[in-house]
Amino acid sequence: MSERVGISVVGTGDWGANLVRNFANLPGAQLVSVCDADPKRLAKTAAQYPGVKAVADVADVAADPAVQGVVVASSAVSHYPLARTLLAAGKDVYVEKPITLEVAHAEELCRMAKADGRILMVGHLLLYHPAVAYMKQLIDQGTVGDVFYVLCQRVNLGKVRKDENALWSFAPHDLSVVLHLLGSEPVDVVARGAAFLQDGVEDVVFVDLRFPNGKMAHVHVSWLDPHKERKVTVVGSKKMVVFDDMNPSEKITIYDKGVDRAGEVVSYGEMLTIRSGDILIPKVPQQEPLRLECLHFVECIRDRKRPLTDGVGGLRVVKVLDAAQRSLKSGGAPVAIAPLPQEVA
Ligand SMILES: NC(=O)c1ccc[n+]([C@@H]2O[C@H](COP(=O)([O-])OP(=O)(O)OC[C@H]3O[C@@H](n4cnc5c(N)ncnc54)[C@H](O)[C@@H]3O)[C@@H](O)[C@H]2O)c1
Repeated sequence: MSERVGISVVGTGDWGANLVRNFANLPGAQLVSVCDADPKRLAKTAAQYPGVKAVADVADVAADPAVQGVVVASSAVSHYPLARTLLAAGKDVYVEKPITLEVAHAEELCRMAKADGRILMVGHLLLYHPAVAYMKQLIDQGTVGDVFYVLCQRVNLGKVRKDENALWSFAPHDLSVVLHLLGSEPVDVVARGAAFLQDGVEDVVFVDLRFPNGKMAHVHVSWLDPHKERKVTVVGSKKMVVFDDMNPSEKITIYDKGVDRAGEVVSYGEMLTIRSGDILIPKVPQQEPLRLECLHFVECIRDRKRPLTDGVGGLRVVKVLDAAQRSLKSGGAPVAIAPLPQEVA
């Protein structure tokens, strides 16, 4: 085994190109090969990285002993068969989000990775964002108080996909953040949306999640919106925190705002007073989340560590997406989230 971890990237399209760029320049990693089923795409990528093998068939990646870790950045529908082939060949695998399009497929990948001691990581990029790590710290250390609800907006006028709707394309980001920040799984989910541009492919979706002990989250995703918004708002009993990913430098704002109860209940109604205190913009490290994510994959392979965004995290998100999709198709009926199977949890 060489000192550097051998990496292959499968799927070198719009997003895969960013992964290729990162792994080609990552300390501790060696980009061994790139793989794409589209010959034009493959030729374009290969031309930029002379010395890196270019292959069209994932079987060549699976059979290459120089490759230890494989990044699957192909279209979502191919994540499951590709990841399965690669895990079966003994590779450590990082699959872009959503890990699969079916709950049973995500469970199977988690079982395979667990049984064979392979690393299975999912590309829940925002969990590597220093601003999300900062928010999580604020919640865990009690600064925010009791979290009442989380609101996520991910809207723009952007890439309209044919093989997945806005829910499956965008919401994995927000759902992974919500599950991470709240540290629990929802009880049930309600989703409503509409397909304006293509039959059966929703362009805009509103998702409501209900958590144990009354907490809530709302996720609004759309690729048909005049604004480009990437925002997460956490409302707690002590503080309110906003992560605005469109703000180039001031990613986090902490509001000392809330409603306080008076100590004594003096009448049939409790006394509530509005608190509108200071607004703080903390300094949050400016590091590229994708680079941190790629470094983490290499570190997990080398040290045999469980990734921050492991396969089970991918499965949790797919369970919510699946429930939201069923709610969407039923016109907004609540769909309960079943607990994770014991053997994969
Ligand atoms: N983490 C993020 O922020 C983020 C952002 C954008 C996209 N993504 C994810 O990345 C993935 C790719 O998205 P994209 O926008 O680059 O799509 P894309 O369509 O631009 O690229 C996909 C590429 O995969 C190739 N491909 C498909 N099936 C293949 C197979 N069986 N073997 C080899 N190559 C295959 C295609 O030829 C294409 O070049 C998706 O899963 C998407 O959800 C993640």
